[in-house]
Amino acid sequence: QRQLAESLHIVNEFAQEYFSHTLFETEEGQAVGLSYFQERGFSEDIIRKFQLGYNPDKRDAFARAALKKGYSIEYLQKTGLVVTRNGEPADNYRGRVIFPVHNQTGKVIGFGARILKSNDRAPKYINTPENQLYVKSKLLYGTYFARQAISQADECLLVEGYTDVISLHQAGIENVVASGGTSLTPDQLRLIKKYTGNLTILYDGDAAGVKAALRGLDLALEEGLNVQLALIPDKEDPDSYVRRIGAGAFRDFIRTHKKDFIFFKLEVSLEEAGNDPKRKSELVNQLAETISRINKTEHFTLQQDYIRQCSEILKIDEQGLVSLVNKHLRERL
Ligand code: UTP
Ligand code: MN
Ligand code: MN
Ligand code: MN
Ligand code: MN
Repeated sequence: QRQLAESLHIVNEFAQEYFSHTLFETEEGQAVGLSYFQERGFSEDIIRKFQLGYNPDKRDAFARAALKKGYSIEYLQKTGLVVTRNGEPADNYRGRVIFPVHNQTGKVIGFGARILKSNDRAPKYINTPENQLYVKSKLLYGTYFARQAISQADECLLVEGYTDVISLHQAGIENVVASGGTSLTPDQLRLIKKYTGNLTILYDGDAAGVKAALRGLDLALEEGLNVQLALIPDKEDPDSYVRRIGAGAFRDFIRTHKKDFIFFKLEVSLEEAGNDPKRKSELVNQLAETISRINKTEHFTLQQDYIRQCSEILKIDEQGLVSLVNKHLRERL
């Protein structure tokens, strides 16, 4: 098992070097890949730091190079780098820019491959399939580059995508990891907790971003994380936003806009409920459930603070909310 993981890693390492080499040293790489990154505003330093690359728009350029080097077709397929087309080995990431994914110790465990121009026929990103090395539910993109900064700042910023992480790094904001746009898993939350107890979610301001953010909340509270959230303005993501307003203004934006997740959720639901008393009572019930999931042993006063502040916002009786929270606690025993 361990040997298999090691073999996959060696194949990935070869691929990463091949893609980087192609990006910087070949004509197509420079003309297509490098100019793509440059147009996005990525500096050469940041491209090298994140080991970005490019795979040529050819049927099997990488596959042939790897097979010639002696890597077995079995491992090349397991890593998702090579697929079979008409019975022949072919590249999976043709004419795409490449984002290597590193594990906590900096080893390449997979890739995200982005199409140059979005269209409806092909997916924007192709990601490594699950294998012994690449387990999506357990990793967060950028952890290796962020972990020191996360510990130092005692805060982890969570964004959706590869390019959000990279642009923020380039802006000097390094305590940031990406979830790949999906909701957080317990393993990913535990990974964050290794470095800090403070999580700040910076998801895109579109409906999908809000939904993904809300799904992560109950889990994060159970893990005893202090979760805050700032939504990036509509039509932007952290990458586009930090490039538009600059690093200083971006930091200010986070500082002034982040709020406790629970109040964010409450505001969203309050807006939805409007004046409907039935929906408001349903909302209070859901809120009590959420509060009941706060890890009490680690955050003794937090739960009480939430109960007090939420009952103020909702203009309801504090003791009533307390008993509702306790009811949910009992239900899960
Ligand atoms: P986004 O659609 O927000 O992409 O998806 P992005 O990160 O802003 O990328 P650019 O700026 O268009 O290049 C957020 C993340 O969701 C995952 C990727 O991890 C992406 O970074 N995703 C998105 C996929 O895995 N596949 C897709 O087709 C799209
Ligand atoms: Mn390397
Ligand atoms: Mn998005
Ligand atoms: Mn983007
Ligand atoms: Mn985005």
